[in-house]
This record gives sequence, structure tokens and C-alpha cells, in this order.
Amino acid sequence: MDKTYLDRGSTSLLKDIDTENYNVVLISPRAYFLFTPLLPSSTVGTVELRSIMQPIRFITRFKSREVLFIEGSCTDIDPQKKLITVEDSSEIKGEVSKQQIKYDYLVVGVGAENATFNIPGVREFACFLKESWDARKIRSQLLDSLESAAFPGQPEEEIKRLLHMVVVGGGPTGIEYAAGLHDFLEEDVKIWYPEIAGKFRITLVEATPHVLPAFSKDLIAYTEKTFAENKVTILNNTAVKKVNQKDIVVLNKDKELESIPYGLLVWATGNTARPLVADLMKKLGPTAQAQRRGLTVDEHLIVAGSDNSIYALGDASATKWAPTGQVASRQGSYLAEHFRTLYELKKKATNSDSKVLLSQVDPFVYNHRGSLAYVGGDKAIAELPGNIHLSGAATYLFWKSAYLSNLFSLRNRILVGFDWVKCKMFGRDIGRE
Ligand code: NAI
Repeated sequence: MDKTYLDRGSTSLLKDIDTENYNVVLISPRAYFLFTPLLPSSTVGTVELRSIMQPIRFITRFKSREVLFIEGSCTDIDPQKKLITVEDSSEIKGEVSKQQIKYDYLVVGVGAENATFNIPGVREFACFLKESWDARKIRSQLLDSLESAAFPGQPEEEIKRLLHMVVVGGGPTGIEYAAGLHDFLEEDVKIWYPEIAGKFRITLVEATPHVLPAFSKDLIAYTEKTFAENKVTILNNTAVKKVNQKDIVVLNKDKELESIPYGLLVWATGNTARPLVADLMKKLGPTAQAQRRGLTVDEHLIVAGSDNSIYALGDASATKWAPTGQVASRQGSYLAEHFRTLYELKKKATNSDSKVLLSQVDPFVYNHRGSLAYVGGDKAIAELPGNIHLSGAATYLFWKSAYLSNLFSLRNRILVGFDWVKCKMFGRDIGRE
């Protein structure tokens, strides 16, 4: 049997998958998994980008039978013919750069794209926080803005603009990025750029009345208070309408259009379906696929409207749970177990009808272990099962240990641990490639 699955969120599936009874083909445009929860920290050098990457071959090498890895992008899924198209999307291409591959089972774990709501200028001028190159771009632009602000003869107004870091979106991504940025500016940049220290500003723009809408009221209040103490401005009830090269146009809380100049703009307004996923949803029809943010799946993570051969997990799927790494990782382990059970049932079955077999496989169950967010100044918030709400410095240690334990491997844990120690001992690096 051939099983083809794609990209990130699939790391836990790949770790546990049975390669004895399935031929596994893995397709991803990049040859590594990226631990995105620590991506904001990597933009300011609290952790190194390499420390949160896990080369795919580090996992496939340890499987009992070979896993075929193809570095390429899946550009089309044909659910009728059970065929996918894979294209080499890298810079260097050989004579063959497009292939069609047949599958028996397909697991779609391609993640999601940044939601821009078609706001003009976002793709052109803003930085996202999804991929390793996004983190590199943010770091480079951030340090470039600082150097340009320090350029002799720079007018005051221009210095003010260059040193204004704007984050759009008050979800966990925007909050954790703004928090990490605050630490970097306060703890490191102030030392190395004394001439412009005190002129940095961070503003977080959020369209709704409060940040972190998924957290409880007391934790939202704690976050907003911590941001205020750290002099990070939160503009609530403020929606970005247009992005220009040097300023954003917002509809402010008084419902007036206002221009806000920026030096660096980070866009974190959530997720939307990737074109591949949107296209598959279209092919499966609006009755089966009615959600815009991803593939609707049943209790076995089977894509609605498919013939029980396509599965989806992580941010590519739309479930009742928040699209977090925690959910994706649990879904991956579940699918590995699901396929193992399915194989055993098929071996014994007299009736190989997929509906009959699936009725004997346990559904996916998810036990939420809590939500965490770093809010800056060595403080974090945690909302745990049993209505337990924690905040402060001790919660930050908990945040650190939770993120460490969720990393892909012991190697990544040790690397990130060393990065944290290095950062405490020597401060963050301010060099840029
Ligand atoms: P999000 O969807 O949670 O938040 C996006 C925010 O942007 C919303 O509050 C929205 O009101 C705001 N927004 C949208 N358009 C806007 C505009 N034009 N102007 C101003 N504000 C605008 O997105 P995020 O933070 O990327 O998270 C995505 C998912 O990943 C969520 O489900 C989140 O819970 C999860 N996540 C969880 C983490 C954690 O638990 N620590 C870390 C990172 C992500």
C-alpha cells in the first residue's frame, strides 16, 4: 500500500508510522521540520533557528523500512484518480521537476497560510511568522532599521519611524513576538545602541476589544497590564485597512482612518487554507467542505466527501479544536495507530469494505493539556484544565519546560537549552548575515 503525506504536523505521524506494512512516501518543499512555537524567539536570537529545525532524514533514517522522501511541493490532488502532482519548487532543478504519484492513502498535513484578508500591501510590505525564511527576514529588517536610525544626520521624525516596530494581530503569535521583541530591545539593543536607546517603540494592533480572545478574562487583563508596564502599546478595536511601504492605515477605535508610520511590520492575523487545500475542498464540493479555514474531517480524521482514502491533520484541517501544535501532534500519533489497526483488521477481514473496517477503529480523542503564552519580561500565562489559571515568572519556567518537552528530539532540546543558557550568559547576538 502506498501512503503519501505532506509536510509539517506530520512529524509525530512519521515518528510512529508502521513502515513494515505500508510503503511511506513523504513530500515536503523543505527537508526539515520547524518547531514554529519558538519561531518568534528565533527572530531576536533568543534561540538559534537551527536549534528548532529537525532534518526529515534524522527521522526517516531510523525507520525499520525505507521512507521515500521527495523534496517538492504537491501542487494538485486528484481524488478521483488517487493521484497527486509533485513539483520541484527549489532553485536548482534537474531535467525532471514534475511527477505524478499514485496513492492508496493520502494524509494532508500541509499546514495553513497567513490570513491577509486581501488587505492591500500586506504581502508586499509586511513580514510573516511561519517559515524559517520569515524569521531571517524579520531579523534582518529589524537590525537594518536600527542601523538606519543610527545613521548620521537622520532626521528625528525618520528615527522615530524606523524605531517603531508594529505587530498586527493580538493572538498568541503576535503577543509572543511582541513580548520577545520587547526583551531584545530592553536587554540587548539598549546596550549596543545607546545613542538611540529610549526611542524604540512597539505597538500591537488588534481589531477586537482585547488581545488573546481564547484566554480567560483574568489572563487577558494580566497580559495587557504586563504590556503596559513594559511600555508596549496595545491598540485595541483598531483594524488595519491598508499597508504602505512606510506606514499602515488603520480604522481606529473612534472609527477614523489614521496613518501609523513603522520601521518593521510583523503580520500575525491568523491562518487561512493553503491554495492546495482550498482547491481540494472545491473538488470535494461545498456540501462536504463548508469551512473556509481548512478541510472538514470526521472522527477518524478522514476528509469529508472523500472515499475514505484522504486524511487531514494539523492546520490543514478544520476541527473544533484550536489549530495548535499540540492538537496536530496528537492527531499524528493517532493516525499512526489508526493505520496500524486498519492493517490488522484488513488482514483478518472477510469483508474489506472500508466503512465496515472503519467502524471498528477507535475515533480520534483529544485531551487538551492547556494553553500557554509568553508575555515578556520573563513572565508567561497558562490556562490549564480544571480552570487553573497561572501567570508570572514561575509560569515562564513552566512555559519553558513545556516548549522544551514538545520539541522534536533530545538533540533539539539540548540545543535550545544551550541557546537559553548562552543568551543569559552573553546576551543575544546582534549580528546579521
Ligand atoms: P489568531 O487567529 O489567534 O489571532 C489573530 C488576531 O488578529 C485576532 O485576534 C484578530 O482579531 C486579529 N486581526 C485580524 N485581522 C486584523 C486586522 N486587519 N487588523 C488588526 N487585527 C486583526 O492567530 P495566531 O496568533 O497566528 O494563532 C493561530 C492559531 O495558532 C490560534 O489558534 C492560536 O491559538 C494558535 N497558537 C497558539 C499558541 C500558543 O498557545 N502559545 C502560539 C501560536 C499559535
